[in-house]
Amino acid sequence: MPKDIIIDCDPGHDDAVALLLALGNPEVNLIGVTTVGGNQSLGKVTYNARAVLEAAGARDVPVHAGCARPLVREGEVAAAIHGESGLDGVDLPRPVRPLGEAHAVTWLIDTIMAREPKSVTLVPTGPLTNIALAVRLEPRIVERVREVVLMGGAVRTGNWSPVAEFNVKTDPEAAHIVFHEAWPLTMVGLDLTHQALCTPEVQARIAALGTDLAGHVCNMMDFFRAAYRADRVFADPPVHDPCAVAYVIDPGVMTTRRCPIDVELTGTCTAGMTVADLRGVEPEADACATQVAVRLDVEAFWDMVVAAIAALG
Ligand code: BDR
Ligand code: CA
Repeated sequence: MPKDIIIDCDPGHDDAVALLLALGNPEVNLIGVTTVGGNQSLGKVTYNARAVLEAAGARDVPVHAGCARPLVREGEVAAAIHGESGLDGVDLPRPVRPLGEAHAVTWLIDTIMAREPKSVTLVPTGPLTNIALAVRLEPRIVERVREVVLMGGAVRTGNWSPVAEFNVKTDPEAAHIVFHEAWPLTMVGLDLTHQALCTPEVQARIAALGTDLAGHVCNMMDFFRAAYRADRVFADPPVHDPCAVAYVIDPGVMTTRRCPIDVELTGTCTAGMTVADLRGVEPEADACATQVAVRLDVEAFWDMVVAAIAALG
């Protein structure tokens, strides 16, 4: 039985690849997409999510727009990495399916509560604003979801500050709420995602598929690579968000380390840092609900992504 997942995202070049991986892999069933202001404004990322689904021929997957800004702080976008549209460099088809009417937070709660307990996995790949609000509004979702597998955070080096990663740094209060709930939570952070580089060899495999969709992905990766070269010291772009989906598909694709994780809210230099306590013996699952992803099986990961794009035709 495929696992039911909801991707809460802010597309975003790597969010787009996460959506395609979820749509094209038979081990997961994408039951809906919710959007949050992050890489760009809520309006832009919501349009992008719908356009990606359209390009993949996934008109039956509902999209619901959520929070436009973080819980407490001013919003920040990542235009240097994702462009003015949030998905620069690619010309996707106009979405046909209308946007869902319900607010993402309401839709998340209603969907999780209506389904079988422990059947829905949440995969947040943007700031955690929607998920934090949902759990405050309906705390019973903590017991109802199967697990949370999120892209965000960093144990070692950050990208939005020396120690903080974009999704957590832009809404640390929301991240604090989500990391402190009792649901099983896997943090797929920069320590892992910086291993998921779209090298020219990987991109050649995607290009060789020869489909329109593969062409769109290559255009996205061209922009993403140029942005990472201009703004960061990367020859090839780290494609963060599909790593979280890959873990849901096959946890064997990465190594994880169980440890308590907290979110720094008040440090003058460290706000938004995810602080992982890696001291001592690794705790058991019943004593610690959180784990951090450490090492990626790079080949298996890209095999999965390429196969998903191929399957979508
Ligand atoms: C995260 O930030 C965004 O720019 C990406 O989409 C990813 O979710 C990486 O720090
Ligand atoms: Ca993202």
